[in-house]
Amino acid sequence: MAKGPRQLLLEHADERDLTKLSEYEAVGGYESLRKALDMEPGAIVEELLASNIRGRGGAGFPMGRKASFLPKPDQATKPIYLTVNADESEPGTFKDREIMFRVPHALIEGAVITCYAIGAETAFIYLRGEYYTEFEIMRAALEEAQKAGYVGAAVAGSGASVTIVIHRGAGAYICGEETALLESLEGKRGQPRSKPPFPAISGVYASPTLINNVETVATVPDIIELGGAEYAKLGVENSAGTRVFSLSGNVVRGGNYELELGTPLRSLIYDIGGGIPDGRELKAVIPGGSSVPVLAANEVDAPLDFDSMANLGTFLGSGAVIVIDDRACMVQLGLRVAQFYMHESCGKCTPCREGTRWMVQILKKLEEGRAEQGELDLLLNVCDRILGNCLCPLGDAAAMPVASYVAKFRDEYQRHIEEGGCPFGAESSLAGVMAPVDQHHAHMRSQIEVPVHEFA
Ligand SMILES: Cc1cc2nc3c(=O)[nH]c(=O)nc-3n(C[C@H](O)[C@H](O)[C@H](O)COP(=O)(O)O)c2cc1C
Repeated sequence: MAKGPRQLLLEHADERDLTKLSEYEAVGGYESLRKALDMEPGAIVEELLASNIRGRGGAGFPMGRKASFLPKPDQATKPIYLTVNADESEPGTFKDREIMFRVPHALIEGAVITCYAIGAETAFIYLRGEYYTEFEIMRAALEEAQKAGYVGAAVAGSGASVTIVIHRGAGAYICGEETALLESLEGKRGQPRSKPPFPAISGVYASPTLINNVETVATVPDIIELGGAEYAKLGVENSAGTRVFSLSGNVVRGGNYELELGTPLRSLIYDIGGGIPDGRELKAVIPGGSSVPVLAANEVDAPLDFDSMANLGTFLGSGAVIVIDDRACMVQLGLRVAQFYMHESCGKCTPCREGTRWMVQILKKLEEGRAEQGELDLLLNVCDRILGNCLCPLGDAAAMPVASYVAKFRDEYQRHIEEGGCPFGAESSLAGVMAPVDQHHAHMRSQIEVPVHEFA
């Protein structure tokens, strides 16, 4: 893993085997837990609020605010739970895997501190089923932490008690969505629940539940060590701290890079990532996983922070930056992305279930040169009818990026109609770009292929 200028989470991860408890302790591991146990639980939530840390899973909601929506432990009528979202299913994203692989104790320590802060005695880690190596690493680290008294009854000799349960998922993208995750955790089919009630009021087993991403929770020990106000000084306004960006696609040095928020996208691609291979030109960048609208090449000077991305009509999402060079056909890209969401739609909401199929069908016709004038607008119309009309944002995650490809590369889409096929011909390649999507899809592929019915 390459280093950014300031690292918190992955600091020391290159020099030491931090999967071992003794090594983690040697660099100050579990000191934050001891510090936290000397504080009032409410004061820890205050530190999280002061840190301004925003969720690293996708939506970027401030962690401290979410924690403050939970009932106070002395007023709760049911047990409070922490659930860590380790499903990591967004195509292009592979950072949680690396965090669990290299600093499993940071996640465990963060989970114990968070449980103590919110008055929870149980934390579930909902772990992507395909991450078997990470499961074994997490399990071994948890065993060590239990033996050392950091997890279990009387945590580090205090009155707090925390149990951590690792629950493996069975490989469905939808189970990364927080309410579908809760259903799955309860042993049911993974489909989203309607909100409200939000999980903070009624989550797992209808009890108050805080759900946060692996990276969010694993950062908690750093926030306690630095203090919320100091942590908030890292990064830029409204985007505090560091983030692990997963860089992939047509770039020389893909990988995970922990950087301060606000680092220019150009610097990640060119200085850190080594630029575009084979002397090709940059065409576009997906800045936050396959679900988010694309940026054109002339937008790469933007800083990687929540507000800058929002100003450009996109999102930082899961922190997965996918670089696209000039060989990629944006219709093929749209088709490949839409196929993923069609396959992963859980089917509960009609606009998503049917709409993603319509999208695939029109995009196929476009790519094969069978589309007629008007079908481009039909595609946008389908996207529009999905957007905001489902219980969860999975449908939006298909509609938003594809609509953005058409908006920013409309002439390319138009040429497919006018020239009766793909203008890139044999030159076209999604090879590097779609590797993360293909990889995720291959992992998630069920035994049954979903047929796409052609509508007359
Ligand atoms: C279809 C879909 C898939 C998602 N997949 C993930 C995932 O794999 N990991 C994750 O942390 N969040 C995922 N999310 C976001 C979660 O619903 C939720 O916002 C997040 O776990 C909250 O944690 P955070 O506040 O720390 O980001 C997904 C959301 C949707 C709509």
